[in-house]
Amino acid sequence: MVSTPLAIASGCQYLPESGADRSPNQFLMPLTAKVNDRDHLEIGGCDVADLVQQFGSPLYVLDEETLRTACRQYRDAFKRYYPGESQVLYASKAWNCLAVCAIVASEGLGIDVVSGGELYTALKAGVDPTRLYLHGNNKSLEELQLAIESGCTIVVDNWLELQTLADWEPSDSPIRIMLRLTPGIECHTHEYIRTGHLDSKFGFDPNQVDDILKRVSQQAGLEFVGLHAHIGSQIFELQPHQDLGSVMVQWLRKAAEYHLKIQELNIGGGLGIRYTESDDPPSIDEWVKVVCDSVAAACQSENIPLPKLLSEPGRSLIGSACITAYRVGGQKTVPGIRTYISVDGGMSDNPRPITYQSIYRALVANRMSAPIVSQATIAGKHCESGDILIKDAALPETRSGDILVIMSTGAYNYSMSSNYNRLPRPAAVLVNAGEANIILQRETYADLIQHDRLPERLK
Ligand code: LLP
Repeated sequence: MVSTPLAIASGCQYLPESGADRSPNQFLMPLTAKVNDRDHLEIGGCDVADLVQQFGSPLYVLDEETLRTACRQYRDAFKRYYPGESQVLYASKAWNCLAVCAIVASEGLGIDVVSGGELYTALKAGVDPTRLYLHGNNKSLEELQLAIESGCTIVVDNWLELQTLADWEPSDSPIRIMLRLTPGIECHTHEYIRTGHLDSKFGFDPNQVDDILKRVSQQAGLEFVGLHAHIGSQIFELQPHQDLGSVMVQWLRKAAEYHLKIQELNIGGGLGIRYTESDDPPSIDEWVKVVCDSVAAACQSENIPLPKLLSEPGRSLIGSACITAYRVGGQKTVPGIRTYISVDGGMSDNPRPITYQSIYRALVANRMSAPIVSQATIAGKHCESGDILIKDAALPETRSGDILVIMSTGAYNYSMSSNYNRLPRPAAVLVNAGEANIILQRETYADLIQHDRLPERLK
């Protein structure tokens, strides 16, 4: 995608190009996005302005076709490039809710969960527990209990957890565990979302590989399934994942020295997506090929059988499948400095700009071909000066009541949303072939106080 000069560009510049091999993570908008004859943005066959009219704003609009396409591209690419068995897991921290879990599971993906809440949701969505993997650097006993009872695999993160599981009341079937190791691989991404470098809170230190494998080999109640590593998120380089494959295969060889049967190797997620025209992530296909080639080649040179290869992408599966639609409110121009355009959401539905200084793109969904004429800063409605969704966004003339859309909001937006300032969380609709179904009900004021308790003496 090329950026068009300000004076002639319009919201249409962000529309995805057509073509069969479109990797959703390389586009700012869902694959079904187009402009209809009312000059409105349409996603999944639904007019976004009509959706806002019907379901209110802010509104997350999730395109089923884009999500399913990304699932299939991952799944098919692993089949194409990996000579052994493979399983793609959806890292549901990106967006965990019943409908999303059900969709990815129906595409044959398993799910990575990182809390009892995510696990509970996936189970309630009907996901096969043998395809669920529980992560976390400080799992509670209740979370471990739920994982063990439901039969999902536990990705053990540290010594305490290993001991806790080794001491667990024996049951008919052994507890399936994987070990998470810190690979010591650096990658270029925001420091908060880097996890593979040595100074990380996650996983066992690689210097302890021998000790940990030895300990695991002595635990009869635990079924050692394999090894896991994840190096970080929103990564555009392929080299770190290529390196990761060979590092992990070295560990597999070590596991064999302790007579541990290796079934699975999980190389994590991390493929980035396009948030702006200058972002240039590799396609899903390219990423999968690098990972598969690297693991297969390392296994061949180490002369060890191919493990089942697991991966757990989150952002690149769902990030570009969703947009957030807001209603424009008032505007304020500070002469010689900037114009602020306020919208009816903000850091509570998208905390990424204030947390990671993430940059997004916006358009006006009810005047798609209007030329971009100015820059304006899109401000959220929270009582916090830093609640700015986009600084100096390129926009057409924008009026109160317009539908402003921010793109690529599928990953880590709803899942990191909050009720800051007691704003009810927005609704989410799933769109497909002209149909729109609510998948997350808009929260009400009553929802906001449902867990509040007023002690008698305060009444
Ligand atoms: N596996 C593990 C163990 C992870 O920690 C993560 C992400 C993933 C898989 C999925 O990574 P992905 O494919 O989505 O890059 N809230 C941050 C992102 C945090 C990522 C945490 N871990 C953000 O909004 O950018």
